[in-house]
Amino acid sequence: MTIERDARLREVQSWGDHFLFVVDAPDVGRAARPGQFVMVKVAEGTDPLLRRPLGIHDADKKGLALFFKVAGKGTEILARKKPGDRVDLIGPLGNGFTVAAAKKGRTAYLVGGGRGIAPLFFLARELAAAGARPVVFYGGRTVADIPLRDKLEKAGFEVRCSTDDGSFGFAGFVTALAGREMAKAKPAVVYACGPDPMMKALAALTAKLGVPAEFSLESVMGCGIGACWGCVHRIKDENGDGWIKICEEGPVFPGERILWP
Ligand code: FES
Repeated sequence: MTIERDARLREVQSWGDHFLFVVDAPDVGRAARPGQFVMVKVAEGTDPLLRRPLGIHDADKKGLALFFKVAGKGTEILARKKPGDRVDLIGPLGNGFTVAAAKKGRTAYLVGGGRGIAPLFFLARELAAAGARPVVFYGGRTVADIPLRDKLEKAGFEVRCSTDDGSFGFAGFVTALAGREMAKAKPAVVYACGPDPMMKALAALTAKLGVPAEFSLESVMGCGIGACWGCVHRIKDENGDGWIKICEEGPVFPGERILWP
């Protein structure tokens, strides 16, 4: 884990209330793995006091990309930053996805709901580099919720989109689309990030089909480093079940360990 207090925002792209930041932060970029996150200080002063957790969208030796949706005061302040501005971040944090779970030449399904697509771009890139075939399922309520579809396609990934209102792609939930494809041919592994109801439905489906799956859990995070107990979740362990801190032991867990709310 590194604290980069003087990372610099290199590039900003936006689609309505969705933002993609490219940040020069070589120490964090070099160490990052797909599924990990950073804690970002959104303002120079103390309001808001707490950092915001953001999934790492991509990383290389120069830095990292962060994708987020404005969803409150913190992300609203963050979205006002311009190229050249300072970004104070701590990371990479958390365990990340198990890239090795996808075997060479086998298909991996990556299922993202809304802003849950954030860590799946980095994961798709690493899976492709490891010789697996990533297929990205990207769902939102409307077409405005799936702004990264062109970026994913331009990167060469197979992308299947869905919208709840039918404004783009498959009309219905992304779990229904992924489920339809899984019924035709089972992937070797499924990775998912998104709202709890989406992941809960997908967990039931993958368990029924016997497909290994990993889920990135979202939580309110006050510190990101195990100090505040703000991110506890019930998880199955060898003694039955217990409470763990998502920031320390997660955010990624195999489906069979998660007790869904
Ligand atoms: Fe503080 Fe996890 S966010 S303990």
